[in-house]
Amino acid sequence: MKSLTMQGAKILATGSAVPDSSLSNSQMSEIVQTSDEWIVTRTGIKERRLLTGMNQSVIDLAVLASMKALDKISMNPSEINLIILATSTPNDLFGSASQVQSKIGAINAVAFDLTAACSGFVLGIVTACQFLQNGSYRNVLVIGADTLSKWIDWSDRSTCILFGDAAGAMIIQSCSKENNSILNFQLNTNGNYADYLSISYQEQVNPHPILNLYQGAFKYVSMNGKEVYKFAVSQVPLSILKCIDSLNISINDIDWLLLHQANERILTAVAEKLCINTNKIISNLSKYGNTSAASIPLALDEALQINKISHNDIIVISGFGAGLTWGTVIIRWKAF
Ligand code: COA
Repeated sequence: MKSLTMQGAKILATGSAVPDSSLSNSQMSEIVQTSDEWIVTRTGIKERRLLTGMNQSVIDLAVLASMKALDKISMNPSEINLIILATSTPNDLFGSASQVQSKIGAINAVAFDLTAACSGFVLGIVTACQFLQNGSYRNVLVIGADTLSKWIDWSDRSTCILFGDAAGAMIIQSCSKENNSILNFQLNTNGNYADYLSISYQEQVNPHPILNLYQGAFKYVSMNGKEVYKFAVSQVPLSILKCIDSLNISINDIDWLLLHQANERILTAVAEKLCINTNKIISNLSKYGNTSAASIPLALDEALQINKISHNDIIVISGFGAGLTWGTVIIRWKAF
């Protein structure tokens, strides 16, 4: 990436949105056989937000998060050239990004969905950077938004306790190389383990009588929790190490570790493996659970709101999840 960079990319603003309705662990224990103690000990999650009510979709959260980011810098939506919506829970299999484009009034923007589960936002930033750094576009809106509550089997205690709904947005603009804030990335996929975490398509038993065509429907989230845990704890540190090595910086240069908010134990284990002080971990998953593609921009937006991050801080961001996909982006935060 570094050698091909013609221009820089800088982050102008972030925004986030969560539904009003929350579900605590004790409320969860009225739905499935579980307890606050079990969930907190194994995951660190205390509550999550759910998008309840009729006709509410991932679009509503994505639009709200985007408008908040635009408002922060008083940017007219017509200045956005490209919208990348990272989501695995669209309200339309043909894509939801165009509905976001319409609702925020980004009349000049091309818009498309990007599906990479909990790594979606990292892949979204990297994709945006390709368009910005080669000079194709000036302003890109990257959104991570998911409503996994709609795809969960609410009688399966091994998955329903983990997830929540949210959206986060980031506006990235092309700039001079000197002002570049997206320093490096490292991405990976291993489809051999796709069945560790999936929302798979199930065909009906009987085909169409004339066409021999099997139609079907999507199932609920299914997960091999132990294997996903082992994958994250073993592979994410390697991705981070590759990324910082090729950038010629050291672990000590890292100011903040912002991992996909899946499980507090994963966050701590990755930090400890890399000998990163655990007080450098950005974490808000106790309030929201795993919000998939939204988790990284939501946590970043909250950290910025409380002035946790300072000018020139190095933030290591890693996403991981279904696919399996995982990857790292290194950012130097610049307050403009
Ligand atoms: N409440 C109470 N008990 C539960 C439970 C719940 N919500 N879910 C599972 N259990 C039970 C199991 O039935 C099992 O009981 P048994 O020993 O009688 O069979 C026991 O708890 C242990 O289950 P296990 O699946 O081995 O737990 P675990 O220690 O692996 O923890 C996870 C489960 C899901 C918390 C853990 O595997 C994990 O966090 N994995 C990563 C998941 C993840 O982050 N996915 C998203 C990645 S993007």
